[in-house]
Amino acid sequence: MWPRPPRATPVGSSRRCWESTDSDGVDPSPWEEHAGWWQQEFTDGADPEYEEQILPLVEHHLEGVDRLLDVGCGEGQISRRAAALGIDVVGLDLSASQIIEARRRGGDIGYVRAPADCLPVRDAAFDAVLMCLVIEHLDPFEPAIREMARGPHAGRRGLLLLNHPLLQAPGSG
Ligand SMILES: C[S@@+](CC[C@H](N)C(=O)[O-])C[C@H]1O[C@@H](n2cnc3c(N)ncnc32)[C@H](O)[C@@H]1O
Repeated sequence: MWPRPPRATPVGSSRRCWESTDSDGVDPSPWEEHAGWWQQEFTDGADPEYEEQILPLVEHHLEGVDRLLDVGCGEGQISRRAAALGIDVVGLDLSASQIIEARRRGGDIGYVRAPADCLPVRDAAFDAVLMCLVIEHLDPFEPAIREMARGPHAGRRGLLLLNHPLLQAPGSG
């Protein structure tokens, strides 16, 4: 058995591809507006879809993973579940409110504020990369997928979970 590699930590990117506020001082993440609603209605046991389907599915697919990158981690419910399995986790999200809440809710997890299309991580630094209910919010989504492909070692795991159109509210597009 190989010794376990050192803890996964995000590394500074030489590319500065985003700013935390635009020139008018407005935060560019639309999720700032929704973060409180998400934290109250969908996390920490509040949402049966997470409890009964998403979290068990994620646990199943993370079997054998040592180091996970959780892209668009929100307030960290998947990161915490993965960390409880003994996985070394880094969670990234563009919304400051989500990252602040994720840190407040605790766990031995490295949280970083960063956009999905410019991840401050080295190539092949993880065993697996996960994105859950985030790709629906990205337009275009391709740059994020390209970035995610840099995360795991060749041949390791990528998990993408997204809403079935059946679950969209009528008229939501
Ligand atoms: C529906 S929540 C899902 C949160 C988490 N993945 C979970 O399953 O609990 C969507 C998350 O995507 C994040 N997000 C949206 N656009 C993003 C982007 N361009 N880069 C990084 N995160 C983004 C939001 O801030 C929000 O926390």
